[in-house]
Amino acid sequence: MSKTITGFSKLSKSQKINWVVDTYFTNKEDAKRILKQYWNTNEKLQQLHDEFIENTITNYYLPLGIAPNFLINGAMYTMPMAIEESSVVAAASKAAKFWLDRGGFKTSVISTTKVGQVHFTYNGNSGDLELFFKQIKTRFFQDAKPITKNMEKRGGGIIDIELKNKTNALKNYYQLHATFETLDAMGANFINSCLEQFATTLKREASLVLKGDLDVVMSILSNYVPECLVRAEVSCPVEDLTEGSTISGQEFANKFVQAVTIAEVEPYRAVTHNKGIMNGIDAVVLATGNDFRAIEAGVHAYASKTGEYSSLSHAEIKDGIFKFWMELPLALGTVGGLTGLHPLVKLALELLGKPSAKELMQIVAVAGLAQNFAALRSLTTTGIQQGHMKMHLMNILNQFAANDNEKQVLTKRFKTETVSHSAVVEALENLRSNYGFDSAQPPTKSHKSPKV
Ligand code: MEV
Repeated sequence: MSKTITGFSKLSKSQKINWVVDTYFTNKEDAKRILKQYWNTNEKLQQLHDEFIENTITNYYLPLGIAPNFLINGAMYTMPMAIEESSVVAAASKAAKFWLDRGGFKTSVISTTKVGQVHFTYNGNSGDLELFFKQIKTRFFQDAKPITKNMEKRGGGIIDIELKNKTNALKNYYQLHATFETLDAMGANFINSCLEQFATTLKREASLVLKGDLDVVMSILSNYVPECLVRAEVSCPVEDLTEGSTISGQEFANKFVQAVTIAEVEPYRAVTHNKGIMNGIDAVVLATGNDFRAIEAGVHAYASKTGEYSSLSHAEIKDGIFKFWMELPLALGTVGGLTGLHPLVKLALELLGKPSAKELMQIVAVAGLAQNFAALRSLTTTGIQQGHMKMHLMNILNQFAANDNEKQVLTKRFKTETVSHSAVVEALENLRSNYGFDSAQPPTKSHKSPKV
């Protein structure tokens, strides 16, 4: 069967499934069964998902977990987290509980400005272009009025438009660099519509006045939003840091600060350190229907703002107080996009008390800081594998189709033993060969034999 197809998008859902199954799968019935297993029996709900994107053939599930006990600026929150990685939700919950007893998280929004650009070339005199821009600047605002009217009524809109001469970087290259306030909307559609209108105005006015050729290359928002910044912080006396641990608060604080400093100076470590932060951030961003790719791109660019990739978080010990904080750009929305469409997103936002975009920025920043705290706490004390493998135990058991009884027996056993893939597989094999002795139930037909 040919792997090339024309007119694919015009096929019905079942025709698309038939094509992909016939073209790519050996066990066609099995492939179809799996795809169907993930459809929603509620037709309306399924149609909603079908229509989020093109060529939908089924749904791809991620677990939605919750991490309770987050105290943020004196209010309690339970975080909704959509993530597949074991131990992230458990780590978030642990960090939340830890800081709940120590005053909780303090957050503030530093700024909410978003950016968009019209990229264009001009081969005439740059002085003429600058003068032209000054003369027509108000037209950009006037022409965009039909787009900005409603946003302005609510207190947002276009903040400013600047002409930027980038000809040192690239021959004839200029930009209209515009800044926006989009309130509770992430604002991508609003910004892009404004920018496309700016481009139209620019071309029209240039054709009337300018001598040289002006050519618009593209108009698009930027996901780099260093002026859409939020800060999250925790602090407590150093001696309050230990919790039933063998090391002192001072020892822990010193090691923790050292771990953060390493991520500040060493890019290889900084990437992993920041990945841990993004474990928390992405999970809440995804659960609340925001664009995690945009957030990832913007955050990692911000981590390189000095020219060297570095840690997003910082820590210090001053006058006996341990302080751990982070500032990062988060362009989030709580209206528009998926937020009004996806039932689980609506549910997640309600769980968070229907936050404004500013509140959501603070909640998400806390999820990142908490996750980073939990990771560094494990890394600098027990090591990450102890907790991680405990959480991973269930994944290994599921991989080998362990039944409820086997899960129960082995979870109990590995409470006191070190979890490793081979140790779990061996234990499962032993249990199965001795079932009736260790296990109250015989393995079911679906049991696969573990192979390492
Ligand atoms: C794993 O998903 C995240 C960590 O690697 C983060 C870190 O090293 O700080 C544990």
